[in-house]
Amino acid sequence: MAKPASGKSRTAYVCAECGASFSKWQGQCGECGAWNSLSEFVVEPAASAPAARRSSWAGKVEAPKVTALKDVRHSEEARVSTGIGELDRVLGGGLVEGAVVLVGGDPGIGKSTLLLQALARLAASQPVLYVTGEESLAQVAGRAARLDLPLDGLRALAETGIEKILDHAVAAQPRIVVADSVQTLWTETLTAAPGSVSQVRESAARLVRYAKETGTAVFLVGHVTKEGGIAGPRVLEHMVDAVLYFEGESGSRFRVLRAFKNRFGAVNELGVFAMGEKGLKEVPNPSAIFLSGGSARQPGSCVMVTREGTRPLLVEVQALVDASPLSNPRRVAVGMEQNRLAMLLAVLHRHGGVVVGDQDVFVNVVGGIRVQETAADLPVLLAVLSSLRDRPLPEKTIAFGEVGLSGEIRPVPNGEERLREAATHGFRRAIVPKANAPKSGSFKGLEVVAAERLSQAIDAAME
Ligand code: TYD
Ligand code: MG
Repeated sequence: MAKPASGKSRTAYVCAECGASFSKWQGQCGECGAWNSLSEFVVEPAASAPAARRSSWAGKVEAPKVTALKDVRHSEEARVSTGIGELDRVLGGGLVEGAVVLVGGDPGIGKSTLLLQALARLAASQPVLYVTGEESLAQVAGRAARLDLPLDGLRALAETGIEKILDHAVAAQPRIVVADSVQTLWTETLTAAPGSVSQVRESAARLVRYAKETGTAVFLVGHVTKEGGIAGPRVLEHMVDAVLYFEGESGSRFRVLRAFKNRFGAVNELGVFAMGEKGLKEVPNPSAIFLSGGSARQPGSCVMVTREGTRPLLVEVQALVDASPLSNPRRVAVGMEQNRLAMLLAVLHRHGGVVVGDQDVFVNVVGGIRVQETAADLPVLLAVLSSLRDRPLPEKTIAFGEVGLSGEIRPVPNGEERLREAATHGFRRAIVPKANAPKSGSFKGLEVVAAERLSQAIDAAME
């Protein structure tokens, strides 16, 4: 907990979950209802914040003036390739000048590895700076050498004080800075302990200001807490231009980088990597890696074509349905939203006539991937049904489609593209919403079953 604020500063209390701020401490956040999530944050009075502005890069402060937008100089296409195609894709086509990108993920998932690899390639064309607050310079150099990265232009700084970091940055004038990790940063203007929400937030704010004023692109590395937020500071998410999450299943070598927010590109864009001996390798054509790989047909499995970001992916949904000893049977969803599963099971009961009220239902999306779009509805229900009846779906079958509360199957965007992806990978049958099905009933060798109602889809899958 923070020490009391000194002199002129004002104290506010900031919720680590949602970022709301309050003038008094309270046990529960009035905004999001989280308990014990408020921590002290010292607000510097605007007039007396010399330290925040003292670095020379701030220059002299100009009076704000109103400008016609057409007169504003902007460089729309000023994107720099990171040299890693999958990272460029998630960024929206490369790194934008002055952009601040937060890269979040569990400890050990590969954030430092990814950014070190990117930075080493970027260093060939422009000055870069890797600021490490967690590992020593020797550890960073050792890893870079092990990964066979070119070390020439790779400049690093082991430091956590934001004032010192900015002073060094001003002197070295890098075009790209990585701060690994933002949780280790602290500013001397605050009395709160390093790692506290206020320290992290203020340090990040200083880096954001630096990025905007100098046009330097900044990557902030942030560890994710057990609750899934970027450690405490969910607050950071709205300060930065882009938030990328690095995800993966423990035990799997595949890693997925997902754009959760992006002012310069599509959200939900996915980049896929494989972690190997020489660091992260791109998987530029990831379509089939999220299938479980077993060639034998299994009950409780359904392959779907999801479209996350701008490319279709084949993903396997697995379900296990088993008689429950509990009066309140379990519904567990991994890789999809739990509430949506509960809703889908209610539709299955009401409009499909399938009773699962006395069964535990577990649903898992294979490969540690998270599917957020509604196109997963139908495949989830077919997997559940297949497990319940202990009968596999017909061979080489895929499905996609949204399931409505009245049991109707609703179309999803980019149907044709999904069908093409399935055909390319040798699938022979597709159960899809009627509006997504071609009139002829087939598509490039794929037999397409058009379903308007859940009952029709069930008949097609369980025939
Ligand atoms: P790291 O980038 O340090 O993770 P983060 O910064 O997100 O905490 O990744 C560490 C993990 O990656 C560690 O468990 C070892 C593994 N790894 C490899 O498998 N191969 C490699 O070449 C490297 C550098 C790391
Ligand atoms: Mg790290």
